[in-house]
Formats: sequence, structure tokens, C-alpha cells
Amino acid sequence: MSLQPETLDAPDRPAGTAAWWRTAVVYQVYPRSFADSTGDGVGDLPGVTARLDHLADLGVDGLWLSPMYVSPMADGGYDVADYRDVDPLFGTLADVDELVARAHERGLRVVLDLVPNHTSDEHAWFRAALAAGPGSPERARYLFRDGRGERGEQPPNDWRSVFGGEAWTRVTEPDGTPGQWYLHLFDSRQPDLDWTSAEVREEFHAVLRYWLDRGVDGFRIDVAHGLAKAEGLPDHGRDHDLLDAGREDAPTHLAPMWDQEGVHEVYRGWRRVADAYGDRVLIAEAWVQPPERLARYLRPDELHLAFAFAFLDTPWRAGDLRAAVTAALATTGAVGAPATWVLSNHDVVRHTTRLALPVDARRPIGIRATDPQPDEALGLRRGRAASLLMLALPGAAYLYQGEELGLPEHTALPDEVRQDPAFFREQGRVAGRDGCRVPLPWEAGAPGLGFSPSGRTWLPQPESFARFAADAQRGVAGSTLELYRAALRLRRELGLGAGRLAWAEGFGADVVAAHVTAPDGAPVLVVANLGPEPVALPPGARVLLASGALDEAGRVPQDVTAWVSVG
Ligand code: NOJ
Repeated sequence: MSLQPETLDAPDRPAGTAAWWRTAVVYQVYPRSFADSTGDGVGDLPGVTARLDHLADLGVDGLWLSPMYVSPMADGGYDVADYRDVDPLFGTLADVDELVARAHERGLRVVLDLVPNHTSDEHAWFRAALAAGPGSPERARYLFRDGRGERGEQPPNDWRSVFGGEAWTRVTEPDGTPGQWYLHLFDSRQPDLDWTSAEVREEFHAVLRYWLDRGVDGFRIDVAHGLAKAEGLPDHGRDHDLLDAGREDAPTHLAPMWDQEGVHEVYRGWRRVADAYGDRVLIAEAWVQPPERLARYLRPDELHLAFAFAFLDTPWRAGDLRAAVTAALATTGAVGAPATWVLSNHDVVRHTTRLALPVDARRPIGIRATDPQPDEALGLRRGRAASLLMLALPGAAYLYQGEELGLPEHTALPDEVRQDPAFFREQGRVAGRDGCRVPLPWEAGAPGLGFSPSGRTWLPQPESFARFAADAQRGVAGSTLELYRAALRLRRELGLGAGRLAWAEGFGADVVAAHVTAPDGAPVLVVANLGPEPVALPPGARVLLASGALDEAGRVPQDVTAWVSVG
């Protein structure tokens, strides 16, 4: 991808099609860890509703709720036992309706999380499949196969679970004999559905309509690149680990379980469902490489958005960041879609911590007390700079709860409290994702930092969280919370999300510098300095916002991003 100055943005589009989701900033709520209203130490929907003013005040356009459906919580709710009801842990259907109503009152959209690749093993369909036996229509909704070997004692192919271990589990048939195997790309309690089944396709259309009828504004689609498997389920020939797909050197679709052609027909069907409701949004969680392949999910009759995970995974080096931004804008632009930026979510080490790791280190799956501990101050400084860069880019942006507080990863959770199935399936070789899922600190002086009225928290909070509590930052100049508030306000006022980006010339190789120009707006110069030399701004420049203090000469120091008015 060329690094020459060029102009990139969401492409020209006919007037009147500037839908909200093209430029929206959406805040991810991981309900277990956002706010607890009952005192059981687990966050819930009334807790979210009670804290909606925090989101309105922050200035986001909406929230995406990680799963709150009925679930045995084998994977934090990404194992759904009933797609049409709420788990008692989180509340009731009435609580969803209340949340949606109160959010809409504040002008906030609500996006749910849909998990179509697999169900829970406690889903009525899977129970029926186990009871019905080989060759039954009940088994045809999942991927049951006979084993290899003389007595079927070996798994049907060599696929590995993303969470570690084999991707197949053998069942005991109703007559007590060892029987068929079923596929689970994730935990054994998350059996994969067979998306060649018409019944499966129809069921998910009905589930989409069920929630759209209740007034939700769209869906984030879990493992959107995994639904279709290569015909005949051929051997893969290699191992992969958690969320590895987006990072493999080879194009993802060469793996028989990812990014197969069959997914696109599924999404064309979903788009028809969504379009009938007006301005709803479908967002792909698809760890797909290269970016040209990701853009195929965003063709005009498919999904609206797809997270640019390549940007999240880009090392803290200016050239790499420029290339990642260029690639995302160019490839999505070519199909008429905006790019969707994200730096943190519930699956990755928080970016305030990640960016303090050695620049060329592979992104770890969690960090343990026995690992080298990243420098908190460096991570926060870079994290703030990265956020300010991201929020200036044309397109949509997704925030993960707590990043507006600059929260670090919990890097020293005791193993006894871990819950991520990846930790267990990998037999402790990786820490897992619990460290980014720790309950939020709301009030520095309250028990459990205000997360829960009883002070209980389902994962322990690190001592440092008190310093990051929302009430310790609100109204405090220079705090991360105020930085995000100012950034979101300016981004909206300046129309940056709808802007065009042109790389700015004359800055050094260690600098990411671009002009972002909104339709009818003056260009805003964005300067992220990753190098040791302070960067001078053009004469007459007026700094609108910066992620850290400029030096005495008004220059942008290392690991600081500034938004500058040059017009
Ligand atoms: C992606 C989700 O974000 C992650 O949390 C989950 O474990 C897997 N998909 C499986 O559903």
C-alpha cells in the first residue's frame, strides 16, 4: 500500500444517505462488568440503565451490549441457550425494554450482540440433537460427524479449537455407546451450527426480527467470518490460537473454517431483514486478512460495518499506522462503506497496557503476575495518543467500557479467579481475557469502587483502579475522561467522522500527520508523534486538543497526539 499523500475517506455517496452508523461512536458495554444494581457482584441491565447518563455525558452515539441472553456463562454469555430471553443474572426482558427506552430518550442507539456461529450446549436444539441420535434432523442443525479410525475413536478432522485443544468432542449416544463427534470452534460447550441448514437460517431471521421489533438499532455479529465451513470439512494442517485468524500471514480464507464464500449469502439475507426496518446496523466481528477480503463483507447488499482489527493489531510505529489506516479506508471506500476503528474490546489486552509492551511483541492473550509488567504511565500516554488519533479518523469508532477512564488491564489476577475458558483449555499457557473484563471503578471512595452496592465484584479490581475511578476524573482538567469528552464533542462539531483524510507532508517518518476535512469544513491537522524528536506545528496553528502537554516551544512531544486548526 502506497504511503504517498493521498485523499481517502468514506466514498462519495448520494445525498441523504449519511446514515448515523457511518460516523457513530459506539460504546461497548460488557454487562457483567459495567454496573451491578443488585449487590451480587455481577453487573446487570438495570445497572446499565442507571448509568446511561455517563454515556450521554461522555458524548457517544450509542452502546453495544455484549450478550445478555440466557446462558450458562461458559464463555461469558457468548454461549447462548435462548436467543429470545434475558439471563436472570442480567435481568428480564422488561429490563431490556426499559434500557432501550431510556437510551433512546437520551439519543443513544442500542446495538445487541448476536452469536450465530454456535449455541450453548444447553440450547434446546443441542439437547434435542444429543437425544435424537445420528442421522436425525435434530443433529443436522449442528456439525455432527462420525469419527475416523476403526471404531470412530479419532476426531473427524484435525481442526483445533480457538481456545485450545481439539475442535471436536465425542458424544455418548442415547444407547450408552461412544458415538459421533460434534464441532466446536470455541469451547466444547459452544457447538457450531450448520449454516447450510435452512432451519438454522430461518431461525436467525426470526431472531433478528424479534429484537428489531423490540426497537434495537442493530447487531454486532460474533465470529461473522466463521459461519460457513469448507465443503467436506477438510483438514486444516495447522494449529491456531485465540483470535489468531486476523493475524495469520496467509489470507484467512485459506483456513477451511474462516472467511468461506458461503457467509456472504447469509449476510445478504440479513441485510434484507434489516433494511425492512430502516436505519438499523449490522457490524461484523470478522478477524479476516487481508483488508480486501474484509471489505467483501461490506458490499452494498451485505453488512454495514466491520471492525478494522488490523488497525488494533498495528504496532506503535508511524509507518505501520499510516499503512493500516490507508488500507482500511481504501478497501472499505472501494465498496462504499466507512471504516470502523477500534482499539480495545473484551477480547484483547486493553490498549493502555498493550501499547507499553515491546513494539514488535505479538499481542498476548492476557498478562499474568509472573509476566514482565508493562509500564503503566507509558501505556497510558500512548493509549491516550492512540485514542485521539483514532477519534480523528473518518468512519465509525467503537470504544470499550473503561477506556474513557484510561483503565489499564489487570495484569496480576490470581489464577484461582479466572473464568475465561481459554485459560483452562490452554491449560494455563495463556492468561486469557479476564484481565480486560474487571468491573469498572465508578467512585474512588466506595466499596467495590462503586461497581456494586454491596462492594462485591465478580473479579477483583486492582488497587490502581481507585485512581482511575470516574468520579476522580469528572471535571478534572487533563484527566482521560475529560480528554475523551472533549474529543467526542470536537469530533462531532468538526464533523471528523464524515471527513476526508489526506496525509500531511513535511513531517518525519516517526509522525502520523494528516488533514481531516469534513464536508464544508476547514481542515483539521492531526499530528501523532511517535518519535523522540518534538514536532513543530505550522505557523499560525491553533491547538484544539492534545493527548498530553506540548513542550515549552509549543511542539508535540513523543507519544502525544494533537488536533490542530490550520484554517
Ligand atoms: C468473539 C467474542 O468476542 C468472544 O468473546 C467469544 O469468546 C468468541 N467470539 C466466541 O463466541
